[in-house]
Amino acid sequence: MGTVIAVLLQNAIPVFVDVQPDTMNLDPDDLEGKITPRSNAVIPVHMFGFPADMDRIMAIAGKHNLIVVEDCAQAHATLYKGRKCGSIGDVGCFSFQQTKHVTAGEGGMVIARADSLRGRKLQLCADKGWPREQYREHLFLAPNYHLSDLQAAVALAQLRKLDPMVEARRRSAMALSSAIGESAGVTLPPEVPWARYTYFAYQFTVDPGKFTVGRDRLVEAIRAEGVGVLPSYLPKPLYEYDFLANVKMYNETRCPLECPYYHGKMDYRTVSCPGMQRCCSTGIFMQWNEKITPPMARTMGAAIAKVLGHYRRQGT
Ligand SMILES: Cc1ncc(COP(=O)(O)O)c(C=O)c1O
Repeated sequence: MGTVIAVLLQNAIPVFVDVQPDTMNLDPDDLEGKITPRSNAVIPVHMFGFPADMDRIMAIAGKHNLIVVEDCAQAHATLYKGRKCGSIGDVGCFSFQQTKHVTAGEGGMVIARADSLRGRKLQLCADKGWPREQYREHLFLAPNYHLSDLQAAVALAQLRKLDPMVEARRRSAMALSSAIGESAGVTLPPEVPWARYTYFAYQFTVDPGKFTVGRDRLVEAIRAEGVGVLPSYLPKPLYEYDFLANVKMYNETRCPLECPYYHGKMDYRTVSCPGMQRCCSTGIFMQWNEKITPPMARTMGAAIAKVLGHYRRQGT
């Protein structure tokens, strides 16, 4: 929701593109059909630290002249075909909120090419549009979105630990995957040569048809084994949330969704993203962090495998 709220707070209208159920990342097959003459930008969110399909997204964005804003809140040091996420599109956004790999308590970072007009303007948005080389001049209406020096110092110290942190997360996540094991009806997080999955979180999906009980009962049983899983990252797709579906916007107004400056029509009650719905109903989610060791992960994986084995339908 952090992504969606940021868009609305700029008086822009978020349009939901469906996701690929195994990664929860933007599905390029659904992107082109959602582009209208009013579209300006596409925001691939690299969910859980796994990269979105950037080659296809960049090609579609280029064809339609869209800016690509990569949401790397969960993808610090994620690699896509050897390139760091955040450096592929026009703009990369990183969150330093307290659950993220690198945190400054709160805050974040935006990156863009320094030699581009956009990069320069973004830089000025951290200082009220004031280029410090000029004496008290403000070039355009701009916010003061800078981190405090204290927060920056904390984030910089953590940045030095990022690579070992990611490697620790990867080792234990892979230990968990091998302990759960590939089996019918279970889709584990993808490990592929072209991506460095940085495991902000660990989510796998189950096909309810292959088990004698539903996903929620599997979650309860795994929790009873002492593993703190949750039923998917989100309980429902974002467009079903009351404030979007029922247009609860600024104060008592319905702006920007219903507004003299917006000539489109967005009714979130009519949106349907089947891939996202599947993620919400089949995902099993776990917070992840670098303090989880491979032996701990193997113990968790054995408990999960025991529950899945117990409820597996005969002959699947
Ligand atoms: C994918 C994603 N995008 C955006 C945000 C928003 O970041 P922040 O809390 O720094 O505003 C978050 C997390 O908070 C997130 O996980």
